[in-house]
Amino acid sequence: MSTTDNGPWWRSAVIYQVYPRSFADSDGDGVGDIDGIRARLGHLRELGVDAIWMSPWYPSPMADAGYDVADFRDIDPVFGSLAEAEALIEEAHAAGIRMIVDIVPNHISSEHPWFKAAIADPEAPERDYFWFRPGRGEHGDEMPTDWRGEFGGTTWTRAPDGDWYLHLFTPEQPDLNWDHPVVRAEFESILRFWFDRGVDGIRIDSAALLMKDPSLPEVSAEKHPFHDLDGVHDVYRAWRRVAEAYGGDRALIGEVWMPEVERFANYLRPDELHAAFNFDFLGCAWDPVLMRECVDRTLHAHVAVGAPPTWVLSNHDVTRHVTRYGRADTTFSFDNNLDNTPVDLELGTRRARAAALLSLSLPGATYIYQGEELGLWENENIPPDQIQDPMYARRGHSRDGCRVPLPWSGDEQPFGFSTATPWLPQPAEWKDRTAQAQTGDPSSMLELYRSAIALRRRENSPEFAWLELHPEVLAFTRGENFACVVNMSGSPIPLPDHQTCLLASGPLDGDRIPPDTAVWLRL
Ligand code: GLC
Repeated sequence: MSTTDNGPWWRSAVIYQVYPRSFADSDGDGVGDIDGIRARLGHLRELGVDAIWMSPWYPSPMADAGYDVADFRDIDPVFGSLAEAEALIEEAHAAGIRMIVDIVPNHISSEHPWFKAAIADPEAPERDYFWFRPGRGEHGDEMPTDWRGEFGGTTWTRAPDGDWYLHLFTPEQPDLNWDHPVVRAEFESILRFWFDRGVDGIRIDSAALLMKDPSLPEVSAEKHPFHDLDGVHDVYRAWRRVAEAYGGDRALIGEVWMPEVERFANYLRPDELHAAFNFDFLGCAWDPVLMRECVDRTLHAHVAVGAPPTWVLSNHDVTRHVTRYGRADTTFSFDNNLDNTPVDLELGTRRARAAALLSLSLPGATYIYQGEELGLWENENIPPDQIQDPMYARRGHSRDGCRVPLPWSGDEQPFGFSTATPWLPQPAEWKDRTAQAQTGDPSSMLELYRSAIALRRRENSPEFAWLELHPEVLAFTRGENFACVVNMSGSPIPLPDHQTCLLASGPLDGDRIPPDTAVWLRL
């Protein structure tokens, strides 16, 4: 048995990720915006979420859908204005919903004034805020290293003066030099800027990549030149002090992709980040043994540092789990491209419903990516000339299929998202998945999420213990009288002894739980 402390909000919150380009469009340009979110806040209140994590909304040339930030203290006109952002924060708070903004510290946009100054004059002080280096070879025309970028491809681009600059992502996202005190001071000031506006938390993009080995060695098995270097922890200790100065309930949440659980947990030590996304769970196959091992690994690693576990099934970078769970291979990894392999959407949806009950009843915080509550699947049929994701050119896989604008109402595209053609095409079949079509239908994904989130508020004992029912069934209790049972076997299993069935992810077969179905029971 293990016990997690429910404590402050971020330890047990349901956090909903808004991808602003694709949530709701208020001004008819086919791209979502802040006023669209404000107009649809009721959807999130009725869903019952505790917080919104807002993907980047800052001024940006959009070389990577806003993860190339030109100014962290303003809003891109396509999304609205700073005044509208402040109004949204206030209105969300009035609706009982906290706000988390997304900060991207590893790199900035090549249109940011710092980088423009650094490119314009090799003697400019801003030059040292980045990683400019001479090239190799007699004429300096070979890249300083052979590092491979996070999207695939190379990591250096030559500046007009002949030096090369480092970018772990696209050339429009030059990496910052975190050894420089001005860079550190600037980001601490950016955190304060948003905390001063009432923001409750910060999601930290690419959190493990900030530090680089200045001797620029090639990647080796012993030592990586930029993944998870020890120095990164000092950055987050300083950020924690900034957060604490606001009274203790502002949270720092890291995007840390890290296969080694112990190294992952280092980010969650009591004087560092409050939480981090559980990509181990996200990438795990729909398999009872592997899932159980993953839950155990997660609980163990988090209990050791006193941090809350998190449960994440999807986000704006990964294939939607309705699609993943409908494939023969149900894992997710950027290195394993399963695009356009056969998908059984009915099976994927059934499993996604069970996964919702699983992820909402495990101890800790749960993240929901917009559209999960509508049961959306990946749009794998976006015409190549409409794909905007810069990963596509480098890896042959695009993340746009999970970034398609939400269907709100009506029988035809754009399903109430906009009055114009949406920036990415929506499948016609989504007419059954609009929020309007699902509202009031007890068998819908939306009503399942609403019921589950409401029940979770009452059924969230800090205690967790496995129930041994069957080798292919995940079953556990939370406290004395609540159990979650997920049948991951191929045949129905008998319902264990209980008083009432509080919620089921699908129809039961008499007193048996069908395959790929989960139930919440009052024991
Ligand atoms: C993170 C973001 C992703 C972005 C990348 C570069 O992984 O989630 O969308 O492309 O960082 O900023």
